Amino acid sequence: MCGIFSYYGKKHNAPEIVVEGLKCLEYRGYDSWGIAYKSNDKIFIHKKVGKISDYTINKDHFRSSEISIGEVEDPNEIKISIGHSRWATHGGVTKSNAHPHFTEDKDIVLVHNGIFENYLEVKAFLQKKGHNFHSDTDTEVIAHLIAEHCKTHSFEDSIKLACKEIEGRYAFVAIKKDSKQLISARKGSPLIIGVGKNEDEYYVASDIPAFLPYTNKVIYLDDNQMSIIEDGKIRFYDLEKGKDIEKRIIEIDLDIEHAEKGEFPHFMIKEIMEQKDTLHRACNANSELIEQVANEIKKAFGTYIVGCGTAGKVCMVGEYLFSAIAKKHINFSFGSEFSCHKHFLTDKSLMICVSQSGETADTLEAIEIAKEKGVKIVSIVNVESSTMARISDIVIPIKAGLEKAVASTKATTSQLAILTLLAYACNGGIHEGKQLLIDTAGQINDMLNPRYEGYIMELAKRIKDVESMYIIGRGSNYPIALEAAIKLQEVSYIHAEGFAGGELKHGPIALISENTPVIALVANDECKKEILSNAMEVKSRGGYIIGVSPDNHEVFDYWIKVPDTGDASPIVNIIPIQILSYQLAVLRKNDPDQPRNLAKSVTVK
Ligand code: AGP
Repeated sequence: MCGIFSYYGKKHNAPEIVVEGLKCLEYRGYDSWGIAYKSNDKIFIHKKVGKISDYTINKDHFRSSEISIGEVEDPNEIKISIGHSRWATHGGVTKSNAHPHFTEDKDIVLVHNGIFENYLEVKAFLQKKGHNFHSDTDTEVIAHLIAEHCKTHSFEDSIKLACKEIEGRYAFVAIKKDSKQLISARKGSPLIIGVGKNEDEYYVASDIPAFLPYTNKVIYLDDNQMSIIEDGKIRFYDLEKGKDIEKRIIEIDLDIEHAEKGEFPHFMIKEIMEQKDTLHRACNANSELIEQVANEIKKAFGTYIVGCGTAGKVCMVGEYLFSAIAKKHINFSFGSEFSCHKHFLTDKSLMICVSQSGETADTLEAIEIAKEKGVKIVSIVNVESSTMARISDIVIPIKAGLEKAVASTKATTSQLAILTLLAYACNGGIHEGKQLLIDTAGQINDMLNPRYEGYIMELAKRIKDVESMYIIGRGSNYPIALEAAIKLQEVSYIHAEGFAGGELKHGPIALISENTPVIALVANDECKKEILSNAMEVKSRGGYIIGVSPDNHEVFDYWIKVPDTGDASPIVNIIPIQILSYQLAVLRKNDPDQPRNLAKSVTVK
């Protein structure tokens, strides 16, 4: 979480560049933001609570506040500015907890992404040495730790020493009042350097699209590496090996995906509607690549499929698909739970990671654990330049395009499509799998029309004020019931829970009272009879049954029709729930694109 953007160069509008860069990174956190700007050995800091997208930079505003960009006289002088968009971990959403953080005399200033796990211990040590703290954050402790080392060491050496003491994951960028250096370090959280066209100009950011308007030349900072930008040049240092290293500039072929809302009021609904096209793109996945991964699965001694949140639910669906289509057992784990499986890993195991962003810390950590055992890593990602894609042995891109809304929609169905194809390929039926998905994409195209949205809106209006709702499914639609609950929770803030239909009678059915909405996902598969009985059990206790199904059944009080797509039913069943979640968010006056407390990319454990 948290977005970092920094600029080093001669552009006179450095703070403006940083503010605009941060706007591109807002998906990583949007509760507060701040920038620091260095000019003539003075550092100016400006912080605000709220979303940076609501802010337009205004020179006069900066002159009258804590940053004065009017002070810069010499157009050739190097300008340095660092910035941060925050997703709170340590300390509430306040101006003092917003980054950049600094030492009392604003000598050392830094922005940080990650979690400094042993910060309390280090803070207590520094307090004894006379350091005073003004925020609740772990980041402020890093600034003071560096300052403590600076009493006896250079700025650069102090950062090297501080990095040895920080336990946990981090990416930070630091500046010092009397130093010309811009220093960055990374362990576990992403940090990428953009090399400007003039080569004496640099950008340091959490993600490439933030600096893509200026350059497509990038240097990926890897874990335990540090970069030092000074006098228009960049150097690198390996913090583990304790020596200078060389790094390559890579020219990337990435268009700036300027996701615009166009005619849509929000990105979430735009991305839901884009599934008409994105599924087609997933169906066209490179067959050779799919076959290659299918062969890896066939020969592996145990395959683990790993993801978090929505991607985790997709992995759970994968477990069912492989069982039903490929008659193959694969093991699902959430990224955060994967360490419990490490005892079963060997160098013949295979790991398949599913992630939209490719930056989710829990999944990246699972990869680290697997790599230590020599496991081969396949990743199914949307962001092809992500850390996950770079550290995997094989990458299957889902090609869903930039997904901006925090709630994942189009990436989810594309991930499901790729797993469906893999399961078919494992059974020697890749063409059959592709045909199924092409037919499904066509039917989704027909389904996603204003009439369909209007019909779901009737339901949304009816249930918008309920306190709780439940979703039930069986087989491959059980994880979809869990995913439906995540969608509803994320944007509508209604208490929603998903259950395996057969589990209700073992406890959760006690939650049902008169008119409790229960969504039943009823596919035309071998679970149909049982899930209909489960819906009937709920109805008998007063529940209001919303059926998502190709056919209307007597037990339904409200029927949402979906096409009959066989093994692809998880793909079609989640779409009306995505629409319903969006509509509930709008009716309840929530921001569906940036819901409270969340961030698009979860880069902390
Ligand atoms: C999706 O709606 C959620 N915002 C969240 O659960 C997400 O799927 C999860 O954090 C994993 O993200 P990833 O796909 O980028 O790894």
